Amino acid sequence: MTDTGSLLTTLDCRACCAQVDPGHPVGVCPNCGHALLASYDLGKLDGARWKASLPGRVASLWRYRELLPVGREESIVTLGEGFSPILRLDGGVPADGHGLWLKDDGGLPTGSFKARGMAVAVSRARELGVRSTFVPSAGNAGVALSAYAARAGVHARVYLPERTPQPMKDGCRAYGAEVLELPGTLREVGTAARAAEGRSGAFDLSTLREPYRVEGKKTMGLEIAEQFGPGDLPDAIVYPTGGGTGLVGMFKAFQELRALGIVERIPRLYAVQPDGCAPVVRALEDGASATSPWESPHTVAPGLLVPAPFASERILEAVRESRGGGATVSDASIVRAMRVLATRFGVSASPEGAATYAGLEPLRARRAIREDETVLLYNTGSGLPFSIPALERSLAAEESSPQR
Ligand SMILES: Cc1ncc(COP(=O)(O)O)c(C=O)c1O
Ligand SMILES: [Zn+2]
Repeated sequence: MTDTGSLLTTLDCRACCAQVDPGHPVGVCPNCGHALLASYDLGKLDGARWKASLPGRVASLWRYRELLPVGREESIVTLGEGFSPILRLDGGVPADGHGLWLKDDGGLPTGSFKARGMAVAVSRARELGVRSTFVPSAGNAGVALSAYAARAGVHARVYLPERTPQPMKDGCRAYGAEVLELPGTLREVGTAARAAEGRSGAFDLSTLREPYRVEGKKTMGLEIAEQFGPGDLPDAIVYPTGGGTGLVGMFKAFQELRALGIVERIPRLYAVQPDGCAPVVRALEDGASATSPWESPHTVAPGLLVPAPFASERILEAVRESRGGGATVSDASIVRAMRVLATRFGVSASPEGAATYAGLEPLRARRAIREDETVLLYNTGSGLPFSIPALERSLAAEESSPQR
C-alpha cells in the first residue's frame, strides 16, 4: 500500500465548532446538521518546496494529493480529471481590454467540472468501505457519479428532475447507474430522494452533505493559482452559482495556499445566477447571512436551478470575504453568450458556463469589475448536450406566451 501523503486531519463544522474523525463515512455534522469541511495539517508541508515539486507531477487533480482526503494511492479512482486549459478571450466583449480568460472544464471526463468532486468523493467513499451510493442531481453530477461508480465497482442510484436534458439521462444509464426521474426542481427531487433512501444504507453524495466533493472542487482554485502563477492571480473570478460548491471550494483552496505562503491575496469571487433563480445574489444584495428559498424558479441552465442551496452561509462567506459580489443574467443573454463563445472563440459552453460571459456585462457596467482588471470566467461544462437553436426557440415561445 502506498501512502498518498494526504495531510487530512479532521472534519470541522463551522457552525457549532464540532470536530469529527474522518476515518469512517460521514455526511453532515452529527451535532447540528451543517456542512463539514476537511482540515489538513498544513504545518507539515513546506509550501515553497511543494510548489516547486508540482511541475513534475501527473497532469490531473491528483497532483495536489497532499491537500486531498484520499490516504492510499490504491484507493484513487481516476479518469484523468482536472488540469483543464485556461484560454484567452480577446476582443470578445465591448471595449474588452486585457486579461479576459476562461478556464474550460468542458473537456473533463463526463463533460463537466462535476468530475472533480465525484472523483475525489467516490475514491474516498470506497476507501472507507462504501459499496452503494445515491445522488439527486440536475444532470452533470449524476453522469459524473455514474462514471466514477462504474470504475470503482460501487453501486450508484441517480435521482434526476424529469426536465433534465435527455443526453444526461442517457449518459447515467450508459454507465450502468440506476436512474429515477422525479417531478420538480432539484430541491423537491433531493427531498424525495433522501426520503426514499431512508435506511437503504446507500451513501448520500449530495453536494456539501458529504465533505469530500468540495475537496475535489477545491482543485479549481489550486489549478488557477498554479496555472496563472501566484504573483499573477486574476483580480476576479466569475462563477456560475447553483449549489455553490465551486465557490466554497475555490475560496478554501486560496485560503490553504495562503496559509502555505504560496499566494498572498485571494481573487474576488463573483456569483452569477439567472434572474429566474438567484437566491445567492439576492442574499448578497440584502446583506443576509443565509439564502431564502426562491419562489417559482426557472432558467435554461439546469445546474443553476437551485432555489435553496444547502450551506448557503458558506457560499455567502466565500463571496463576501473575498470582497466579490453577484450579478443576475437573463436566459436570453445566457443563450446569446453560448452562441458568441462557440462562434467567436471555439468554446462549447454549457448554459451555466456561458452565464459567466453574460454576467461580465452587468459587473463591468456597475464597475464591480474594471476594464483594466484581469478576469477569469469559469466554464463548468460542455455545451454539447444542449441545442442552441432549441433553446432559442423555447425562449421565443415563452416570450410570445400570454402568461409572461
Ligand atoms: C455545468 C454546471 N455549472 C454549474 C453548476 C453549479 O455548481 P455549484 O454547485 O458549484 O454552484 C452545476 C451544477 O449542477 C453544473 O452542472
Ligand atoms: Zn455542527
